Amino acid sequence: MKKKILSLLLASAMVFSLAACGEKKEESKVENAKGKVGVAMPTQSSERWINDGANMKKELEAAGYEVELQYAEDDVQAQVSQIENLIASEVDCLVIAAVDGGSLGTVLEQAKTAEIPVIAYDRLLMDTDAISYYASFDNKGVGTAIGKYIEEKAGLASATEAQTIEFFMGSPDDNNAVLLHAGIMEVLQPYLDNGMLVCKTGRTSFDETCILRWSQETAQQWCENYLSGFYADEDLDIACSAFDGFSYGIKAALEGAGYTEENWPMITGQDAELMAVKNIISGTQTMSIYKDTRLLASKCITMVKAVLEGEEPEINDTEQYDNGKLVVPSYLCTPVAVDIDNYEEEIIKGGYYTEDQLK
Ligand code: BGC
Repeated sequence: MKKKILSLLLASAMVFSLAACGEKKEESKVENAKGKVGVAMPTQSSERWINDGANMKKELEAAGYEVELQYAEDDVQAQVSQIENLIASEVDCLVIAAVDGGSLGTVLEQAKTAEIPVIAYDRLLMDTDAISYYASFDNKGVGTAIGKYIEEKAGLASATEAQTIEFFMGSPDDNNAVLLHAGIMEVLQPYLDNGMLVCKTGRTSFDETCILRWSQETAQQWCENYLSGFYADEDLDIACSAFDGFSYGIKAALEGAGYTEENWPMITGQDAELMAVKNIISGTQTMSIYKDTRLLASKCITMVKAVLEGEEPEINDTEQYDNGKLVVPSYLCTPVAVDIDNYEEEIIKGGYYTEDQLK
């Protein structure tokens, strides 16, 4: 009896704490639905995932599926519980953008036992064979695009004077972050080697530059520390940031350290979030990587249809994404570097944002 009361108390405490974390759950009802798809997204703290969730829900409903959409607010255990609940509510397919790509093995085994196919959305699910397909962007390509942008705009190939650079890389539990760093270094390592790029903190490896859970606050703190500890006598010329969220933190740190238009560094980014594009327009961020989440959602839907209706999915890579258990058949969308010169063409004409949104 005591045990029962205790478990009731625990259960209600859990419900309360989940609610307190601000987790979000959206369900849809579709007449004569072809099936129910559970969509597990990592966080609402960054705009891109809000757009991803909204697109997936809209497109899946338009394709005739019911949708249960969940956000885990970057909490691994919360995401595990959400996926357990989706399995218990008998979804027909799971689409997962993991908080930590390597932490879902056990719950994915449960999905496999329940014969629920799993599709990895943007972030690869590691060390599991309970995965049918992977829809993402060319993640190493994101890195090479950032690297090439820096190479070109900083004129590195013909430079005669060194420029300073610091790196702010993605989360160590996200395979995308590892690939992105590899892509960047493929382009920039030669310039670190020949001295045309100087990283005064000496932090260039992935292990030294990765930021857990893509935290904006950590990026800001690191940048503040770098500026006060290493850049008292010399300006930082390039902040090589792997994520728009980091770029906002870097911007705040630079403002705090007294940087102005005169000595403002080149700042990169990823996701072309609304705020980032506004910052590109105002000159406080130099570029971002535009990833059209509408396209990603539509490719992912072809995979859902493949596993549920036996249609052929669109696949364009069967080699690169080895998750430790299998090489996952993937569709990789192409990332595009955007800056002040092409944002109108790529982003406004493409209908991703309207001109009014950017005012
Ligand atoms: C995505 C990026 C995103 C980052 C942080 C990565 O897995 O590929 O587009 O910026 O997560 O949310």
